[in-house]
Amino acid sequence: MSDLNALEQRALEELQACADEEALRAWNTRYFGKHGEMMLALQGVGARPQAERKAYGQEANRIKVALTEAYETSLARVKERALAKNLSTDALDVTLPGRRSPMGRLHVSTKTLRSIYAAFADLGFQIYRSREVEDDLTNFELLNMPPHHPARDMWDTFHTTTPGVLLRTHTSPGQIHVMRECCPKPIRVILPGMCYRFEQITMRSEIMFHQVEGLAIGTSITLADLKGTIIAFARRLFGAERQVRIRSSYFPFTEPSIEVDMDCIVCAGKGCPLCKGSGWLEIMGAGMVHPTVLRNGGYDPEKFSGFAFGMGPERITMLKHGIDDIRLFWGNDLRFLRQF
Ligand code: FA5
Repeated sequence: MSDLNALEQRALEELQACADEEALRAWNTRYFGKHGEMMLALQGVGARPQAERKAYGQEANRIKVALTEAYETSLARVKERALAKNLSTDALDVTLPGRRSPMGRLHVSTKTLRSIYAAFADLGFQIYRSREVEDDLTNFELLNMPPHHPARDMWDTFHTTTPGVLLRTHTSPGQIHVMRECCPKPIRVILPGMCYRFEQITMRSEIMFHQVEGLAIGTSITLADLKGTIIAFARRLFGAERQVRIRSSYFPFTEPSIEVDMDCIVCAGKGCPLCKGSGWLEIMGAGMVHPTVLRNGGYDPEKFSGFAFGMGPERITMLKHGIDDIRLFWGNDLRFLRQF
């Protein structure tokens, strides 16, 4: 029996000396593993002489239970100590702000479009969306440009392989769609969207660009309403100090027609490559809706009149931010895009 008590004594002393979980687990293997000392002692019970076998077995079992309990107590204590140490050294400050995930941003053209929408919304204009793929009839003919009309040359066109189907060269065909939908009610809408022209790409001209068309139809609309609307819009977007120039022009779908320029922000009107030395940048074409177009939209030109305009938001953005090259808009250079 004394060998059992010596084993218990030694095991308990070694257990006391274990400083961490690793040492404890090694102790457990040494005594309770497959060939552990305690397991061998238990297996040895059967080999004891008959007379002492029972008492020896009982003592071996008592020691097994005592050592197991002592091991589990030590293991729990060591784990608790490790956790406390961990919490105090690697403290997690749950009050720290979280890490922001990287955010994208709106394209500078989208921002300009939104400020144009806001300016016209305050003047009572609604937004009307129209298609980018048009037919020849709506893009030209119903806008008073029959086939072979020389004015078609003003808009170099991307034709599709389907005869008569093209990419719209301007947002003006939207005028026909909205008039036919609303006739005979009065109209006050803007029609924003992408346009396409088979043009030479330069500092001022792209082959795809936005336009915002405007259309107002009613029974007593005059050129004075158009001028007032354009000036209110320009003041809202550029500030009261900016110069606006209105000059006469020609569009087949308006009569009379005008063009609107803003003074060039890059050179303050002195003349630079952006404004081709003129000091002015054209921002929109406009005019009173031609009687033929009114009729094509379903309105009687004897009773109704209206104005229309079409502007280029990219050119407006160039003015606002002093950007001297329109090619930057679709160049996907993040150094440019991140500035806005
Ligand atoms: C038109 O497209 C007419 N539909 C505008 C209009 C509407 C007149 C209603 C009368 C009544 P224009 O081709 O000038 O007109 O284009 C209008 C504006 O679009 C220009 O002032 C300019 O700001 C912009 N724009 C035209 N071509 C390009 C281009 N290649 N790249 C960037 N912007 C352009």
